[in-house]
Amino acid sequence: MTPGFIGTGIITEAIVTGALRAHDTIRKITISPRGAAIAARLAQASPLVKIAADNQAVIDESDVVFLAIRPQIAEEVIRSLKFSKSQRVVSLIAAVQIETLASWIDAEVTITRAIPLPFVADLQGVTAIYPPSREVTAFFAPLGAVLEAQTLEEFDLFGVASALMGSYFGIMETTARWFERQGMPYDSARAYLGPIFLSLSQAAVQEPVVPFKSLRSAFSTKGGLNEQMFEVFDRSGGMAALTQALDQVLARVRAR
Ligand SMILES: NC(=O)c1ccc[n+]([C@@H]2O[C@H](COP(=O)([O-])OP(=O)(O)OC[C@H]3O[C@@H](n4cnc5c(N)ncnc54)[C@H](OP(=O)(O)O)[C@@H]3O)[C@@H](O)[C@H]2O)c1
Repeated sequence: MTPGFIGTGIITEAIVTGALRAHDTIRKITISPRGAAIAARLAQASPLVKIAADNQAVIDESDVVFLAIRPQIAEEVIRSLKFSKSQRVVSLIAAVQIETLASWIDAEVTITRAIPLPFVADLQGVTAIYPPSREVTAFFAPLGAVLEAQTLEEFDLFGVASALMGSYFGIMETTARWFERQGMPYDSARAYLGPIFLSLSQAAVQEPVVPFKSLRSAFSTKGGLNEQMFEVFDRSGGMAALTQALDQVLARVRAR
């Protein structure tokens, strides 16, 4: 595989970093010049990374083209490029459907959508793809794990799930600042909360078939502080707010 990237931003940096670690058969990775600082960093990190003169040169040099630009500029950028029939396109652009992408691309390419997350740089986490593709799975599987969505609806829901990352850190920040107001240094709160949440995630991953509800019970002594925390949070609208946010993000994902 000869991968190329249109858009050299945060997610391209993570994927290229992971790919250089995980794939020893890749001989060249071509990246677009926009996002100059990241492009320079990647080219400096490996002689296999080449900065193309422009977006068209990325396509001309690659058999798998990753689209890693923001949705707002995607149509203009993609319509201006010439693809070839043998190419595979992997779109990372949130909420732009395959049919829409196909109408912007002037050749009958094969299109797969993917949601890689920054953890791929460390060969961790999970990348959702749709539709299932042996080639795209083979690329992302060594960069963590892959979940192949069987339907577009399922893929959209993975997209909603991936939008929880900001809220995760938002909860951590609100909690750490609350501790700070009670007199604990922010750094101490941060040092305590990070490992707790890491251990909780590890517990969930190590018990893949145990429902989260059972884990909540297992980690909450009857009548204890954890049970009280969840009850007050739920009663105060915490779960309702979460459900509302999930509904609204899904509506946005499906609207485009
Ligand atoms: N970050 C994530 O975790 C993540 C995960 C999955 C999917 N995605 C999706 O991946 C896409 C990129 O996200 P990102 O977080 O990497 O964004 P980003 O850091 O803003 O990167 C976007 C890159 O596109 C470049 N760009 C702007 N105009 C361009 C053009 N005309 N031609 C080529 N490149 C151009 C920008 O360069 P300049 O800096 O020079 O403007 C920038 O380097 C988005 O659609 C996003 O939804 C992101």
